[in-house]
Amino acid sequence: MSQSMTAAPRGALGTWAISVTAVCVASATFAYGARTRAHEPASVALAPPTMSSAPAPKLSSVSRPNEAARSALGKLIFFDKSLSEPEGTSCASCHDPAHGFAGNHGSTVGVPLGSRAGHFGIRNTPSVMYLKFTRPFHLHWEEDAPVVDAYGGFFWDGRVDDLAEVPKQPLLNPNEMNNASGASIVAKIEHAEYGADFRQAFGASTDAEHTLRSVGEALASYLTSPELAPFSSKYDQFIQHRVALSTQEALGLDLFKDSAKGGCSECHKLNDTIPVPERSLFTDHGFDSVGVPRNAKLSVDHAPDHFDLGLCQRPNPKFHSDSPEFCGAFRTPSLRNVALRQSFMHNGVFSSLRDVVSFYASRSTNPRRWYRGPEFDDLPTQYREYVNVDKAPYNRHAGDAPALDDREIDAIVAFLGTLSDPVPR
Ligand code: HEC
Ligand code: HEC
Repeated sequence: MSQSMTAAPRGALGTWAISVTAVCVASATFAYGARTRAHEPASVALAPPTMSSAPAPKLSSVSRPNEAARSALGKLIFFDKSLSEPEGTSCASCHDPAHGFAGNHGSTVGVPLGSRAGHFGIRNTPSVMYLKFTRPFHLHWEEDAPVVDAYGGFFWDGRVDDLAEVPKQPLLNPNEMNNASGASIVAKIEHAEYGADFRQAFGASTDAEHTLRSVGEALASYLTSPELAPFSSKYDQFIQHRVALSTQEALGLDLFKDSAKGGCSECHKLNDTIPVPERSLFTDHGFDSVGVPRNAKLSVDHAPDHFDLGLCQRPNPKFHSDSPEFCGAFRTPSLRNVALRQSFMHNGVFSSLRDVVSFYASRSTNPRRWYRGPEFDDLPTQYREYVNVDKAPYNRHAGDAPALDDREIDAIVAFLGTLSDPVPR
């Protein structure tokens, strides 16, 4: 099977008519969508962030610190609990190294707790490891095929291209770090132990936008440093012929790749035939509509008409991604360190990895096990037709035997356990 990164038509999403025409309408500003997303500040005392198509003014090149110094500062900022309001929540509170740089920050509903009691993000926390391999958002047409696939971008809906522009969203989001303004963050950085080093590295500035950009650049340096892409899992050692997989793990790997069984590697890409870990990122950076069940524990979901539509609600300054076929599609996460996570899927509906794999195995053969109401109940009726029902393991029908039996599910779960890097101390 081809392990290339080119787009393959994918089930329902692969048969889209192209309603997406004007592709390169560049726009200088980032238009926030009408709805509040996780990480999206409700009120921002700053100019809207710019997209990488029209980058924010770069830091003065004369004062550009070296990469190691930026990354070291970024790490201090990442773990700094004084940067929230009230104090106590750092980036690492949600992106916890013990959980593969993801986590719930003490919440049990599937999405993370913010800095204030009772305030939760609206999506599950993704891991921030291996982000240096994420490419900007783009659409891809297979030559001569009437299909379009979306790839790349940060967040579950790929809405930001520039990693340095991401941090201001959690810093200012009232449900996450809850700072009132860019100026209040700047004041905290000033008073931090590393304040003088920060000024020395990035230059003193009274401009909040400029300082926030520097904070973003420092964090981006840290997040793209080798520390966050260690490739030190058992799987990495296995493809480099340093350890063997157990019989169960090896079976899991086979099922993961078998297009008649798990079919997982269609989207969670890997290449176990060459000793190059970078070729096994366990994502193709694409988007798919998996039709995960509604998470009844989410307070945003108390309103029965509230739905998180993912990709089609992404603000699209450059590439139009607002066609209905994209509603319900979320970015395929990397499965590296997935066994360390506390909750799974964009809405955090699952809290056990075995449940996730069982869901894949029997979503279409035993839907009543997964959906309290109609199938694909976390989407409005008109978007349910875009859920992927064509590819393994989804391409069976109610009453058929599930794609994977219990022993096979256990094997895939065991294999996924080989993707964990040792937790840093
Ligand atoms: C309260 C929990 C919380 C805190 C604190 C938090 N994040 Fe996040 N982070 C999230 C959630 C939830 C998402 C996904 C949001 C979405 O997709 O809409 C996310 C997404 C991200 C992403 C995108 C990852 C990807 O795979 O595309 C990055 C990068 C990131 N956060 C960095 C940070 C940094 C840096 C900080 C500190 C300045 C931080 N986060 C603080 C919860 C948090
Ligand atoms: C057609 C593409 C596709 C296939 C095939 C696929 N996945 Fe996924 N996977 C996704 C997408 C997209 C998501 C995120 C869905 C969401 O949150 O709505 C996901 C999420 C996951 C997650 C949750 C990760 C997290 O960070 O929360 C796990 C675990 C997972 N997949 C495992 C598997 C396994 C095991 C298989 C094979 C049995 C598989 N996937 C097959 C696209 C795919």
